[in-house]
Amino acid sequence: PSFDTIISGGTVVTASDTFKADIGIRGGRIVAIADTLTGAAEVIDASGRLVMPGGIDSHVHISQPSGEGVVMADDFDSATRSAAFGGNTTVMPFCFQEQGQSLRDALSWYHGLAEGQCHVDVSFHLIVSDPTPQVLGQELPALAEEGYTSFKMFMTYEGLKLTDRQILETMTAAKLSGARAMIHAENDDAINFLRDQAELAGDTAPKFHALTRPIPVEREATHRAISLAEIADVPLMIVHVSNREAMEEIARARARGLKIYGETCPQYLVLTAEDLDIPQGAKNVCSPPPRDTASQAACWEGIEQGIFDVYSSDHCPFRYDDTAGKKHPMGEKSFRWIPNGIPGVETRLPILFSEGVVKGRISLQRFVALTATNHARLYGLYPRKGTIAIGADADIVLWDPERQMTLSQDILHHGSDYTPYEGFEVTGWPVLTMVRGQVVVRDGTLSTPSTGLHIPREKPQA
Ligand code: URP
Ligand code: ZN
Ligand code: ZN
Ligand code: ZN
Repeated sequence: PSFDTIISGGTVVTASDTFKADIGIRGGRIVAIADTLTGAAEVIDASGRLVMPGGIDSHVHISQPSGEGVVMADDFDSATRSAAFGGNTTVMPFCFQEQGQSLRDALSWYHGLAEGQCHVDVSFHLIVSDPTPQVLGQELPALAEEGYTSFKMFMTYEGLKLTDRQILETMTAAKLSGARAMIHAENDDAINFLRDQAELAGDTAPKFHALTRPIPVEREATHRAISLAEIADVPLMIVHVSNREAMEEIARARARGLKIYGETCPQYLVLTAEDLDIPQGAKNVCSPPPRDTASQAACWEGIEQGIFDVYSSDHCPFRYDDTAGKKHPMGEKSFRWIPNGIPGVETRLPILFSEGVVKGRISLQRFVALTATNHARLYGLYPRKGTIAIGADADIVLWDPERQMTLSQDILHHGSDYTPYEGFEVTGWPVLTMVRGQVVVRDGTLSTPSTGLHIPREKPQA
């Protein structure tokens, strides 16, 4: 036969088009797109299905150390299994540099954890927490050549946060090495000030996590991060933007001609701070915190108008009913010790499809751009990944646009023991996930052993 696989009779969606076509796959790549194809070892019937580039989730945390006595709920096996069930074909986890550690040592530890365990393709970002001259002058440039072409900086969290001077130096290393700089923008001093005040007043419940990280904390840091990027003359990705004011900083910078990109996440579209003010509020503790319905509406505007280029999960899973998770004994004493982060790699695509496409807020093309194509473009995976085109990897999700599902822990495959979206109704569901031509999930079953690979990346387009 001419092809290993033909995906037949579906509606193909890319970031620019929607059209009926068959897709021919050979050697893990897309080799033909035509009205009708024949001659394959396997024909997959895609009638009534959307055939889209598999989701690329460029913001996930897997097996990342998260404090004394805290254990992340997912390893590479469970995180990538959950990703595959959620219609994703590539995830981009973070390789976290501990203080005093070289980036290479950090990478070899994560590679050891990921090797042979992944159900989808994986490509690491770095987290630079200790920007020594060796790290910035030698390691980052060498690693960028080897395909680690992005890294995240933090403005908050003890052990991770960089000073403004360090941020400028690290941004300059991004500029010289051609890597993509990303930043977590929250003002650490302001958070600590508000947190200490809250604790003194005896306000230690989970809801005070949100109240001590109010919008100005994020807006100020976003503004400062953008100013630093302007000074260092480097493009910058602002990750996990939660509200209008931070978004406006991005829009204003762009209007001035700066290359500032924005990311938002499902939690900012469908959760609010009130979700922390419930008996099990620790389940929804993440940073930045979800805000209010006005902020949700603002983030939707950013999605619709293109202020956000990417929509990622910020999957950062902990178990709830676990002293190594959200019920850490210190976290029971005060919100400051509750591990930050929520699971979401499996629910990211259904939430945007249902709330975005089905409710008429965004087109199918924009859905694909926000969930796959723009991630590939901005992080150096395009055109190998993120689109359906001849020569691209056959990373494909078949989507049933009419399937109605209720999000629930029962149906998910992550290592967490809960979902923040319990009971949330969606229309549209991934029914088959294919990575480089291999079916990984079909009809709710994981159908092959782990075949995910680490993918080195190109330097992102300027
Ligand atoms: O609360 C969150 N988002 N935890 C994950 C770490 C981060 O800052 O992205
Ligand atoms: Zn497995
Ligand atoms: Zn962050
Ligand atoms: Zn994150």
